Amino acid sequence: MRPKGTSLILWAMVLAGMILLAGTCSPPKPEPVKTVTIPDGEYDPAVWGKAYPLEYDSWLKSKEPDPPGSKYRKGWTGNAKFDKLSEYPFMALLLNGWGFGVEYNEIRGHHYMLIDQLEIDPSRLKAGGVCLTCKTPFAPKLKEELGPSYFQDPYVEVHAKIPAQFQRMGVMCIDCHDNKTMDLKFSRWTLDKALADMGKDPKTATRQEKRSLVCAQCHVSYIIKKDKDMKSIDVFFPWQGSKEGDISIENIIKVIKSDPAYLEWKQTVTGFKLGFSRHPEYEVYTKNSTHWQAGVSCADCHMQYMRVGANKISNHNVGSPLAQGMTACQQCHAETAQWLKDRVLAIQDRTTSLLNRAGYATAVAAKLFEAAHQAQAGGKNINQDLYKKAKDLYEEAFYRINYIGAENSAGFHNPTEAGRICGDAVAFAEKSSALLRQALAQAGVEVPANVNLELAKYLQKRGVKGLNFKPAEEFKDPYHIQELLTPAASLGLPVAAQ
Ligand code: HEC
Ligand code: HEC
Ligand code: HEC
Ligand code: HEC
Repeated sequence: MRPKGTSLILWAMVLAGMILLAGTCSPPKPEPVKTVTIPDGEYDPAVWGKAYPLEYDSWLKSKEPDPPGSKYRKGWTGNAKFDKLSEYPFMALLLNGWGFGVEYNEIRGHHYMLIDQLEIDPSRLKAGGVCLTCKTPFAPKLKEELGPSYFQDPYVEVHAKIPAQFQRMGVMCIDCHDNKTMDLKFSRWTLDKALADMGKDPKTATRQEKRSLVCAQCHVSYIIKKDKDMKSIDVFFPWQGSKEGDISIENIIKVIKSDPAYLEWKQTVTGFKLGFSRHPEYEVYTKNSTHWQAGVSCADCHMQYMRVGANKISNHNVGSPLAQGMTACQQCHAETAQWLKDRVLAIQDRTTSLLNRAGYATAVAAKLFEAAHQAQAGGKNINQDLYKKAKDLYEEAFYRINYIGAENSAGFHNPTEAGRICGDAVAFAEKSSALLRQALAQAGVEVPANVNLELAKYLQKRGVKGLNFKPAEEFKDPYHIQELLTPAASLGLPVAAQ
């Protein structure tokens, strides 16, 4: 209990102060209690930043180039976007047929999400306004106002409806926070619906779950549903049939294959209509990884606590732990930064090696389909039984390498799961090729041991910018799988030239 005397002394001091102040010419107004309530419907981070200047300042920093440190996820290093198709040439072959085969870059800071979209080859925006769904907090509002045309109207038209001052601004405070309480909240219908599809009420998410789920508003795979004229009519996460903590690639493939409306594009080399996976960070991470099982969240590693003066805040310059000196890891691990970094790089090297092995094996199968189609067009008889089996296996392989190739941690989020998926992809691709070789042999078509992937054809002069293959030092092929599988000569690449 506080002795009564204290308050008496306090009052006496306050009174004395008032008397003193009354003697000066303009007494300062008493500081109002800081009301940190942000008005409803306020989007502008600068306004939120008046109440929370430290978080706001760190959020602004995602504009700055990433410091060095990362090997596989260099993102923006000052003057170059990293061309994923040069890093993984098999992707150029396999994604040829739509925007991803034209321009596909490594991701960089949150500041750039809309800017990069505005600068990318227009073929990437053909799906329409739907592309804005995870790029601007105005997406839910635009969808409500425009109805179905939100999804399919031309990207530039829907984008123009964002208030001018926010047309180049990506994720904002309002995407992740409740303006009254500052609690974490979800602002995308896509996530709410996907959680409900797995039998989870979004409102029951714990604080620690939300520290991952706010990221899952965007860092997930999704399907853009098409009508019969290939116009976009919806976007959703393919989590039906899965459970929280157990969203598998097998279930995702099941969803993709369940409806032709989910096949978004046509692959040039095979002529097959296929689905597509985008950045499944949340799915891969939560599929039984060691860290997920230990209760670690995305924010623990990507928004670690940091000290600013006397305050401790969550770093809103969301980035790679490698580019931030491994300090995020050291919140929990006692090892040195170098030791921790070596663990990450070892995992990434192994995963990338497996991804390359699976990717090239799938690319070879794709080229054998091309050969089979040419043979058929030339009047040869291709065994349809073998062909159908080979096609099924090929799609299984493709969806797996697409999935791990699009996941942004190069395996670190879940090393064993990434390894399992790539390993299965190798097996599916090899089996597919074996069946095709058998069918081609039966039809009297000779196939060389080393199939020429003609990569230069897919890598050079892409899109309106005429993008080209980039120099060899940017390859991410630690064990030279590419050379082992396909002798360099048959790649036909300009090895050192831009
Ligand atoms: C991508 C989602 C995301 C965005 C965008 C975001 N935050 Fe946060 N913010 C978080 C997470 C995650 C936490 C940690 C919350 C927790 O642990 O409960 C957090 C915590 C906070 C906190 C609590 C104190 C702290 O630092 O942990 C404040 C205040 C805050 N954010 C302000 C802002 C402001 C201001 C903006 C916009 C300039 C913003 N946030 C944008 C995800 C976000
Ligand atoms: C509104 C959608 C959205 C939300 C929410 C979101 N991100 Fe992102 N994030 C993106 C996009 C888009 C990019 C790529 C931007 C680019 O390349 O232009 C990105 C980039 C990143 C990067 C790469 C940064 C760099 O400097 O290379 C990391 C790491 C990241 N996000 C982690 C997270 C985490 C962790 C959360 C949750 C706390 C989160 N993101 C929430 C959309 C989002
Ligand atoms: C245990 C720590 C840890 C957790 C938890 C974690 N990540 Fe990561 N994440 C990493 C590391 C390490 C990398 C590799 C960064 C690199 O290579 O530079 C990475 C890479 C990424 C990247 C690419 C970064 C870049 O700069 O391009 C994104 C995006 C990302 N994580 C998002 C997420 C999301 C979303 C979650 C939650 C679903 C998550 N991470 C959970 C450690 C973590
Ligand atoms: C919030 C706490 C936390 C953070 C942050 C964290 N870890 Fe961990 N980490 C754990 C726990 C708990 C385990 C499992 C128990 C153990 O083996 O120590 C673990 C396990 C590991 C393992 C062994 C994995 C395995 O499959 O056996 C490695 C390697 C590792 N962490 C590296 C990292 C790196 C690198 C970072 C930063 C990018 C990081 N951790 C961030 C808590 C954390």
